[in-house]
Amino acid sequence: MTRVFSGVKPTGHLTLGNYLGAMRRWADVDQHKADALFCIVDLHALTVDHDPARVRRLSRQGATLLLASGLDPELCTVFVQSHVDEHARLSYLLECVATDGEMRRMIQYKEKAAREQARGGSVRLSLLTYPVLMAADILAYGADEVPVGDDQTQHVELARDLAVRFNQRYGHTFVVPRATHPAVATRVMNLQEPLSKMGKSDDSGPGIVYLLDEPDVVRKKVLRAVTDSGREVAYDREAQPGVANLLEILAACTGGNPSDLSGVYETYGSLKKDTAEAVVEVLRPVQERHKELCADPGYVEGVLRDGAERARAMARPTVDAAYRAIGLLPAV
Ligand code: TYM
Repeated sequence: MTRVFSGVKPTGHLTLGNYLGAMRRWADVDQHKADALFCIVDLHALTVDHDPARVRRLSRQGATLLLASGLDPELCTVFVQSHVDEHARLSYLLECVATDGEMRRMIQYKEKAAREQARGGSVRLSLLTYPVLMAADILAYGADEVPVGDDQTQHVELARDLAVRFNQRYGHTFVVPRATHPAVATRVMNLQEPLSKMGKSDDSGPGIVYLLDEPDVVRKKVLRAVTDSGREVAYDREAQPGVANLLEILAACTGGNPSDLSGVYETYGSLKKDTAEAVVEVLRPVQERHKELCADPGYVEGVLRDGAERARAMARPTVDAAYRAIGLLPAV
């Protein structure tokens, strides 16, 4: 029986990258596997400079969008990380298994720490230990599979390493998880900077398609996407990153294959036009359902309440077992 865990952090409005790289597959495939859990990982949003009211708002909106994208609480568990204490409890134990060197090698830490320092800010200790908390998210539930975009692969590898190390030192406690990725759009790039990931916390608005962008805004952003200096429409991520990104987005939205699609288009303009319409069509049902759910906030709250209860019951035995295995005296 497969157990699946994944999460999204409320650091910005959710993007087309989040949707194509992760959320859509959670709804189409992953929630149908036994015991799938999907989490708004709000503790992770505190690792960089944050506005408390905004994190709360984005957490609620993120949960609503998970349901709008098709997650069904009858099939899976949708919850908020901070509602389940087991994440923080386990994170500390894993900090006692992870090393400082391992943390400093994480690509996202290096990038984000450099960005904070360039802004003149200081780097929160929690940014360094973030991947340990992420490992705790996964290991607490005994997840076998972690469906994520490509940018999270290194973090899932760390979760594997920590699980193996803990098991070797203290006896078998954790399932060793593995990352799974979508066939295309595993890394959707910023439309204005096709060498950078389309990230929700980035500042470049025109290059990011948000899930709640109005159709005309989506069209404008896609039609203004940066393309490459050549003329030919070819699927070549190295030589033509802008065009390759559009082909991948189009393929992900229409179920095609980027290489095959490159043969269909003679001009960048026609590729952009079809991509824009394909994105609008993919987002339409999500936006409609989001509107309905916003009219019924009690429903979303109820889903999160039940979800936290179910998640707690699933995580507690594993985390309690880890407490015992590592040498802590059980409370009587
Ligand atoms: P986050 O919130 O940055 O992103 C959520 C999911 O969306 C994917 N994603 C993308 N996929 C393709 N192209 C993009 N441009 C793009 N941007 C984001 C991410 O790969 C991710 O799957 N650390 C995680 C959250 C997390 C988590 C976990 C995930 C915390 N604990 C445990 C899985 C399991 C993160 O920051 O995702």
